[in-house]
Amino acid sequence: MTYPEIRLFIDGAWVAQAGDPVLNPANEEVIGEVPRVTPAQLEEAVSAASRGFEIWKRTAPDKRAEIILGAAQLLRTRAREIGEIITLEQGKPIADAEIDVWHSSTEGLYENQDPSQADMNLRGKFTSDSDGRFWFRTIKPAGYPIPINGPVGALLKAQGRHNMRPAHLHFLIYKEGYKTHISQVYSPDDPFLETDVQFGVTKALIAPYIKHAADEKAPADDVTGEWWSMDYTFNVDAGVAKLPRPPIQEKATSSDARPQYLPADRKPALAE
Ligand SMILES: [Fe+2]
Repeated sequence: MTYPEIRLFIDGAWVAQAGDPVLNPANEEVIGEVPRVTPAQLEEAVSAASRGFEIWKRTAPDKRAEIILGAAQLLRTRAREIGEIITLEQGKPIADAEIDVWHSSTEGLYENQDPSQADMNLRGKFTSDSDGRFWFRTIKPAGYPIPINGPVGALLKAQGRHNMRPAHLHFLIYKEGYKTHISQVYSPDDPFLETDVQFGVTKALIAPYIKHAADEKAPADDVTGEWWSMDYTFNVDAGVAKLPRPPIQEKATSSDARPQYLPADRKPALAE
């Protein structure tokens, strides 16, 4: 993709003007230009914003909410384009990276915990293309309880905390010359996002899932009913690539391996 033409938006009008070059950080080539604003234009913009605020102040809250949500929706639908522009400015696509992906089932069980799932179910290995992209189709995973049959369980009980992890996808990105990137990307609708037993959630790791109605055409013809799409950009740093040893060596033979749910039982901190 090419870098877009950046213009100034002042008092309801677009202004094109010369400015400073934007460089590709990989090779310092000029990829575009950002306009340089003059002091007079700045004054004009501040005065237009003050006038705009008078209108905004008198706008009913439900109308304001509609406008803000409309802007958010616009950002969501343009996420891919915006992500590409940010990559042009701040990084470069990484081709031929190996990406391991794994996640739990709709029951919240990984294949190795669940004898009813085939070996390697819901696990995949991908290679990024020349644009640094990879994609796949899967099911939306569920969150799950972590095991509480050891000291972690005792600790959680003492703290009155539940043992749930919010639904997530695991990613491991490996390529020589780059720090191995290991991450989890979370479903935005999970009830345990804010109380993850493992404290793994940050705002940046909550994925922009988009729910699509049944009559909206999915990329694959055989998808029926509602479906979801999710686009996410990983930033990988230059450095030493190192692969961890896979921690899981065996598969459960019975459903007893399923960890029990421990409900939260927090006492008020200042209880008498
Ligand atoms: Fe997990």
